[in-house]
Amino acid sequence: MHVQQGVSLQSYNTFGITVIAETFVAVTTVAELKEALQLDFSSIFILGGGSNLLFTQDVKGLVIHNAIKGIDIVAQNTDDNSILVTAHAGENWHDFVLHCIANNWGGIENLSLIPGNVGTAPIQNIGAYGVELKDVFHSCTVIDRETLEEHTFTREACAFGYRDSIFKREAKGKYVITSVTFQLTLSDHKLQTQYGAIKDTLVANGITTPTIQTVSKAVIQIRQSKLPDPAVIGNSGSFFKNPVVTSSAFKKLRTQFPDIPFYPVGNDQIKVPAGWLIETAGLKGKRFGDAGIHDKQALVLVNHGTATGKAILEVAHHVQEVVKTMFGLELQAEVNII
Ligand code: EPU
Repeated sequence: MHVQQGVSLQSYNTFGITVIAETFVAVTTVAELKEALQLDFSSIFILGGGSNLLFTQDVKGLVIHNAIKGIDIVAQNTDDNSILVTAHAGENWHDFVLHCIANNWGGIENLSLIPGNVGTAPIQNIGAYGVELKDVFHSCTVIDRETLEEHTFTREACAFGYRDSIFKREAKGKYVITSVTFQLTLSDHKLQTQYGAIKDTLVANGITTPTIQTVSKAVIQIRQSKLPDPAVIGNSGSFFKNPVVTSSAFKKLRTQFPDIPFYPVGNDQIKVPAGWLIETAGLKGKRFGDAGIHDKQALVLVNHGTATGKAILEVAHHVQEVVKTMFGLELQAEVNII
C-alpha cells in the first residue's frame, strides 16, 4: 500500500477536474482497504470510478481509491437458467459488461458503455434503455467503515429506486462496497428492446433476431452518438435526474407545453425528461468559458478543457434557475457534488 501526499485527482474523475487530494492511497485487496480505513485521518473519502461526482474543491484528509479487482463465478444452475457472478468493486463497469457478453451471460447488455466501476453502480442504481442495475442485482458485500466488519446487502436491503438506493440515504457514508453479485441468464436471454432508439438501431443494423451481443452493440452506437466520451470531453453523464410530477401537475404543464415528452411511472406519477426541458429553455450547447451544456444531450454538463468544478456548478445552478422559471420544476442533481 503506497500512501502519497498531494495527488492530482484529474485522471480519477470523468469530469477531468483538477483538484488535489491531500493524501491518497489506492487499495487492491479487502485487507488493504481495512488497513487504509484504520489510518488516522479526521476525514476519509472513498473514490471509485469517479464517474458520478463533481469535485468543487481540493479534498482534505485521505482519499481511498477502491481498486479491488476480480470476477468470480459463484454458482451456475442450468435448471433455472441462471448464473451468479461476483465482480469486485474496482472492476471497470463496461469491461465487466463485455466480459459477461463474451461469456454469453445475459442481463446487463443494455447497460453497456456506462462509465464508472462495478462498486459504485449500486449506489445510484445505474440505468439505461429500459434496464436498471436492480433488475440483475443479487447482493453486495460491504465493509463497515467504523467497525471494519463485513456485511451482505440483498436487493431488498438496498431499497433501490430511480437513481437511488440506501447507500445514498440511511447508509450514506457508512460502508465501502467491495463486491457486487449479479444474477444473469445462461441462455434464452430476456432481451429488452422496447426502447425506441434500440429498436431503430437494430433495424438500421439489419438485425431481425437480436442477441445480447447485437443489443450491446446497438446501445454502444446510441450512446456514442449522443453522449460525450469522457476521454475526450469531461462529463459525468446525466447531471440531473428526470423530475417526477403528479399527473394533475403534469396536465397543467401539458396545456402550456403540448409537445412535452413524458413517461408514466405508476402511482399517478409522470416522469418528464429534463433534457427536453433544458433544450426547450434554449440552453442546449451553451458554453460559459470551458463549462457548458452538451450540444447533443442537454442533460449532460461538460468540461471543454480547464473548467473548475465551481464553474460547472455555476452552470448547473443557472440551468436549475432557468428551468424553474420557465416550467416551475426543480431539477435535482444526480451527480454527487464534493
Ligand atoms: N431530449 C431532448 N433534448 C435533449 C435530450 C433529450 O428533447 O437534449 C428528449 C428526447 O428526445 C427524449 C427524452 O428527452 O424524448 C429522453 O431522452 P433520452 O432517451 O436521451 O434519455 P434521458 O431521459 O435524457 C435517461 C438517463 C440516461 C440514460 C437514458 C437512456 C437519467 C437521469 N438519465 O436520459 O442515463 O442513458 O435515459 O435510457 O435518467 C446517466 O444516468 O448518466 C445517463 C446517461
